[in-house]
Amino acid sequence: MRAITVVEPGGPDALVWAEVPDPEPGPGEVVMDVRASAVNRADLLQRQGHYPPPAGAPPYLGLECAGVISALGPDVAGWHVGQEVCALLAGGGYAERVAVPAGQLLPVPAGVDLVDAAALPEVACTVWSNLVLVAGLQDGETLLVHGGGSGIGTFAIQFGTALGATVVVTARAGKHERLRELGAAHTIDYREQDFVEEVRRVTDGRGADVVLDIMGASYLGRNVAALATGGRLVVIGLQGGRKGELDLNALMTKRATVAATTLRARPAAQKAAIVRGVRDEVWPLVETGRIRPIVERRLPMAEAAAAHRLLEEGDHVGKVLLTTA
Ligand SMILES: NC(=O)c1ccc[n+]([C@@H]2O[C@H](COP(=O)([O-])OP(=O)(O)OC[C@H]3O[C@@H](n4cnc5c(N)ncnc54)[C@H](OP(=O)(O)O)[C@@H]3O)[C@@H](O)[C@H]2O)c1
Repeated sequence: MRAITVVEPGGPDALVWAEVPDPEPGPGEVVMDVRASAVNRADLLQRQGHYPPPAGAPPYLGLECAGVISALGPDVAGWHVGQEVCALLAGGGYAERVAVPAGQLLPVPAGVDLVDAAALPEVACTVWSNLVLVAGLQDGETLLVHGGGSGIGTFAIQFGTALGATVVVTARAGKHERLRELGAAHTIDYREQDFVEEVRRVTDGRGADVVLDIMGASYLGRNVAALATGGRLVVIGLQGGRKGELDLNALMTKRATVAATTLRARPAAQKAAIVRGVRDEVWPLVETGRIRPIVERRLPMAEAAAAHRLLEEGDHVGKVLLTTA
């Protein structure tokens, strides 16, 4: 088969579409013929040599895909050859075939195109696990999402709104109209406006009950300042650095919590539990049209370098997909 390989860690041109050995399904795994994968910000880090795949994962990039099951390994029940599925991966999606633990498979939601389904697993699992399992977001609460135009952000807007939360986002101004169409109640231009002041203004001084953060260190103090009493800050990205100063008194006074998680490093059993939760609680929202995959662009997989440049330029809203056909 062919896969995108990283010749030498570096810029987008390090990505080369090359012949590699075919995957074999191990116990509890299936092999999928990949129709599409999606680009995640973490892929840019892996390409640069900063985010190696966990032990046992395929060496190729790609944290999610959609396609057709072509082989079953031993001890797989409930899935069949020829079935259209999408999957959460620890790696290997930028390829013509990939072996996947059956616990990380999801059916393609009714009404969603097979290629577009590749835009869903990583964002659905990340957003659902953090907003529901970690932060316990409730109907009627206010959710602040940083990077509302990202793959993660466009999903979080739709999911938070579907849960009954008021969603406030930060994003560059050119993306605001599209994010309001997705359900964002308030948009903040983080380049021109102070998001703490804006969140307080739109919540009558109360603050956000939950903050989903992708910036890390550079937003830590301001995120705590933006929290309501009893608020929950969940950090899932470190685009603004990894080490920051935390005012524990501010946290104590508000009886607030800070959590940080990463999906890729979780053991397979936890990933399978998250995938089950997504199938039970998120897929019905997709199948009734409350949530849809937001796709900025489809490119042939051999043009993965161009797709990475698109993400680096940052003008996209939602996901960039890589297709094999
Ligand atoms: N922990 C996990 O398990 C997990 C899983 C998946 C993703 N993530 C993280 O989630 C983040 C989004 O991933 P993605 O693949 O969806 O990325 P993406 O589509 O490339 O989006 C990156 C976003 O960062 C925004 N941004 C940059 N500077 C900002 C700032 N100062 N304030 C607010 N927003 C800012 C950009 O918004 P503008 O264009 O508006 O500037 C852009 O929308 C990444 O940090 C990724 O590592 C974590």
